[in-house]
Amino acid sequence: FRNYFLLRPRGALCLGLLLLVLLRCGSAQPPGPCPAPCECSEAAETVKCANGNLTEVPPDLPPSVRLELADNGLLLLPAGMFASLPGLRYLDLSNNSLVDLRNVSFRGLRRLQSLDLSDNSLSVLRNGTLAQFRSLPALRRIGLGRNAWVCDCAIEDLVSWLKESDQVEGKEALKCSYPEKMLGKALLKINSSDLNCSVPLDLPSQLQTSYVFLGIVLALIGAIFLLVLYLNRKGIKKWMHNIRDACRDHMEGYHYRYEINADPSQQSSADAEVTIMLAS
Ligand SMILES: *[C@@H]1O[C@H](CO)[C@@H](O)[C@H](O)[C@H]1NC(C)=O
Ligand SMILES: *[C@@H]1O[C@H](CO)[C@@H](O)[C@H](O)[C@H]1NC(C)=O
Ligand SMILES: *[C@@H]1O[C@H](CO)[C@@H](O)[C@H](O)[C@H]1NC(C)=O
Ligand SMILES: *[C@@H]1O[C@H](CO)[C@@H](O)[C@H](O)[C@H]1NC(C)=O
Ligand SMILES: *[C@@H]1O[C@H](CO)[C@@H](O)[C@H](O)[C@H]1NC(C)=O
Ligand SMILES: *[C@@H]1O[C@H](CO)[C@@H](O)[C@H](O)[C@H]1NC(C)=O
Repeated sequence: FRNYFLLRPRGALCLGLLLLVLLRCGSAQPPGPCPAPCECSEAAETVKCANGNLTEVPPDLPPSVRLELADNGLLLLPAGMFASLPGLRYLDLSNNSLVDLRNVSFRGLRRLQSLDLSDNSLSVLRNGTLAQFRSLPALRRIGLGRNAWVCDCAIEDLVSWLKESDQVEGKEALKCSYPEKMLGKALLKINSSDLNCSVPLDLPSQLQTSYVFLGIVLALIGAIFLLVLYLNRKGIKKWMHNIRDACRDHMEGYHYRYEINADPSQQSSADAEVTIMLAS
């Protein structure tokens, strides 16, 4: 009884503490500390990291509405950096050295309205990234100007997206930087005959179709062969009987010669062997 009464208040206290912790977690997340190279304005919910020298995104950015990372030397973005920033509306990554967004997930940025990627070193945007841009419901303005677009086969998806999308600001001004032949050509003016996609892309598919064709022909030949066998089954049976008889005659002749050649002591063991073989 003593223990019971002693434990109860303590249990209630623990429960209370637990509830308090849960409530605190459930209510608005406490703003994380502002990372060293950044300036955070709580009123405007803005995080600005612009010391001009960043090569990596500072870890654990606090949640914000506006994130400014312009004028740095960012090369790549951490793959999941936006997972903790679902409230983001304005994202400025302009004037960095971004080369590739392939591994970056923009999924979940359902409020993002404006994304500035101009003045970077992007050479292409892949299907995965384009699909994410397409699927973000609030995204209205994407800046892509002054990047290093490489107008080869891989840019086809980007070009067709540009043609149909109205998310990109000033898309008429986007120009190829490479190869030499395409230098300065407007991305929107590219048509598939400008890109030599057909040759490298079609060769494997042609090979594939020829393999499929070969497979079908072989299957047909096999089927016809089986059909012929089936239709001739009586003739084949007869033929096999003939062969078996011929074999038996041959074997008997052989056995006869063997018996003549073998001496009596070895013959008994040879006979035993033949008996065993017949039994099995
Ligand atoms: C950026 O780096 C350069 C040298 O790499 C340095 O001189 C400059 O002070 C740095 N700027 C800032 C804002 O830290
Ligand atoms: C781009 O950023 C660099 C620092 O990385 C800065 O010196 C330069 O003025 C910026 N350019 C523009 C157009 O803002
Ligand atoms: C993308 O991620 C894969 C594996 O996670 C890695 O091997 C590759 O180097 C990354 N590419 C870029 C451009 O970051
Ligand atoms: C990209 O997506 C489009 C349709 O959304 C598709 O036609 C095209 O083949 C895809 N490209 C690649 C390289 O997967
Ligand atoms: C593709 O563009 C070239 C000029 O760049 C033009 O001569 C050609 O007719 C175009 N082809 C198609 C199919 O639009
Ligand atoms: C495409 O290939 C042909 C020959 O295969 C070449 O003459 C032409 O310059 C190529 N075009 C481009 C844009 O690379």
